[in-house]
Amino acid sequence: ADEAFIMDLFEKEKFDVVVNFAAESHVDRSITDPEAFVRTNVMGTTTLLDACRTYGIKRYHQVSTDEVYGDLPLDRPDLFFTETTPLHTSSPYSSSKASADLFVLAYHRTYGLPVTVSRCSNNYGPYQFPEKLIPLMINNVKHHKQLPVYGDGMQIRDWLYVEDHCKAIDMVCNGGKIGEVYNVGGHNERPNIFIVKTIIAQLHDRLKDDGISEDLIKHVADRLGHDRRYGIDPTKIKNDLGWYPETPFEKGIVLTIDWYLDHEEWMEHITSGNYQKYYEEMYKNK
Ligand code: TYD
Repeated sequence: ADEAFIMDLFEKEKFDVVVNFAAESHVDRSITDPEAFVRTNVMGTTTLLDACRTYGIKRYHQVSTDEVYGDLPLDRPDLFFTETTPLHTSSPYSSSKASADLFVLAYHRTYGLPVTVSRCSNNYGPYQFPEKLIPLMINNVKHHKQLPVYGDGMQIRDWLYVEDHCKAIDMVCNGGKIGEVYNVGGHNERPNIFIVKTIIAQLHDRLKDDGISEDLIKHVADRLGHDRRYGIDPTKIKNDLGWYPETPFEKGIVLTIDWYLDHEEWMEHITSGNYQKYYEEMYKNK
C-alpha cells in the first residue's frame, strides 16, 4: 500500500508479470480490525494495479478467495460456487477481497490492463501461520493445549494442499484468458471437527503420547457471522487449463503434519512474542 515504494520498485525491477498474493487473510482478525483489511487488501491492490498500468506489465494476476461468494447451506451438498455465483460476502475480510476483485476487473475493462483472477478454497500445508485452523491445532495438540472449536464444529471447508493451489496460479498466469476468473478447489470438503480429530489421531500415533486425546477439544463461542460451508466447482479450470488437485486430503494432511514436526524451530520462533499476545486476546473470551 506504499505507493512511492511500489513505484520505485517497479521502476528498478522492470517486472513482466505480477502475481498479488499479498493480503491480510485471517477472518477473525478482520472482525477485530477491519481497517487494516481495507488498507492492505483494497488499497494495496489498487496501488499495485496503478503501478502495473504505469509500467505496462504484461500480466497481473490476483489471488482471491472463494469467500467472496459468501457461504452455502449445510443441507444442500449439491450446491457449489461457480465463477458466475453472485458476490455475497459475510466478513470484513471477504468484503475487502471482493472489493479488490472488482477493482482488478474494472482496471481490465477501463484501462485494458491484462488481468486474471483466481478464487481458491481453504489452503493448508507448509509455512502456514498458526492463526489458521490446521497449524493452530497442530501446535496446540503438541503442547497439550485446549483445542478451540468454534460452535459445534460442523462448518465445512473445501481443503486444498498449497502446492496444488500454486500449480493452478501458474497455469492461469500462463494459459488463462485475460479478464477471466477461475475457481480453484478440489472437492475435499470436510467438517472442522473431522479435521481436528484427524490431527489428534495422527499426532497421538506419531508421537506415542497418551496426553494427546479428544479431551483437549473445547467447543467455544462461535465466530460472528460464521460461514457454514464453502464448496468450489472447479469445472472451468479443469476443462480450460487441465488443472486438477493432485493431493487428496488424506495425503496432504500427513505431508503437512510431517512438515510441522520437522520444523519445530520455525514454529517456536513464530509463536514467540507477538503471537502469544494475539492468542490471548483472540481466545480469552472464548
Ligand atoms: P480458518 O483457518 O480461520 O479459515 P477460514 O475462516 O478462512 O475458513 O478457519 C477454518 C474453519 O475453522 C472455520 O470454520 C473456523 C474454524 N476455526 C475453529 O473452529 N477454531 C479456530 O481456532 C480457528 C482458527 C478456526
